[in-house]
Amino acid sequence: MHAPDRYIVIGNPVAHSKSPPIHAAFAGQTGQNLRYERQFAPIDGFSAAVRDFIEQGGKGLSVTVPFKLEAHALADELSERARAAGAVNSLKIVDGRIFGDNTDGAGLVSDIERNAGVPLRGKKILLLGAGGAARGAILPLFEAGVASITIVNRTTAKAQALADVFSAQGKILAQDIETLDGSFDIVINATSASIEGELPAVRPDIFAPGALAYDMMYGKEPTVFLRFAARHGAATRDGLGMLVEQAAEAFLLWRGVRPDTAPVYAAMRAGE
Ligand code: ATR
Repeated sequence: MHAPDRYIVIGNPVAHSKSPPIHAAFAGQTGQNLRYERQFAPIDGFSAAVRDFIEQGGKGLSVTVPFKLEAHALADELSERARAAGAVNSLKIVDGRIFGDNTDGAGLVSDIERNAGVPLRGKKILLLGAGGAARGAILPLFEAGVASITIVNRTTAKAQALADVFSAQGKILAQDIETLDGSFDIVINATSASIEGELPAVRPDIFAPGALAYDMMYGKEPTVFLRFAARHGAATRDGLGMLVEQAAEAFLLWRGVRPDTAPVYAAMRAGE
């Protein structure tokens, strides 16, 4: 057998990344001969680390905090969704050239539609946050046929700027978080507030009857946003499924095979 093809997840920090066990499970399941490891890079050492890895014959990288913007700048070629996201989470090396993709938004869409069983077509979406995570979700949500996206953010000007970027793609508007009105079918928390145990300052009546509340963060316990949503009648889902689905999209990009995510999701959930 040939030596396994090499892949890494590169970040700072990277020690707690769940990507290696996820990709190991995908490789086992699909019979792909590959090795996937964590690699820490110094804050100013991202591009040097990528170049070294390419020289050693590396085939692809997952890119995590804080390097997704640098990966976007480094790529020789970008997918349309990476260009729209303004960030790259997956690099594929082909004949020494770097192809940049972003599978985060597709992972979110798959997790909502396939795993949570909630169709996105025609839905009214409220997106909380206006950073990189929010931006990456917008084009994939429109491609899935959502009726509208309303963005609110702690800093309203950033929500407005994001809405302006995507105004040609569909019905998208920014609102002030304090004066937001109406209710929504799906409320997606794309802020990092959950990390600090904080709740974006939204009213409890943002959830339409039967609404789904989605938090891109995950942990052992439900996030403060998901607890709030559950108290106000919404179904809830955390971001563990999105993590597994974005990895499956990257695996497809690299290997041309789509793994079955269900058993891997179940194992990750059990192992938390
Ligand atoms: P990411 O790549 O995870 O999106 P980011 O680009 O730094 O990270 O964006 C973080 C997002 O979470 C922003 O929308 C931020 O709001 P501001 O633009 O006002 O900074 C939001 N955020 C972070 N902490 C928050 C908190 N405690 N409450 C509400 N929003 C918060």
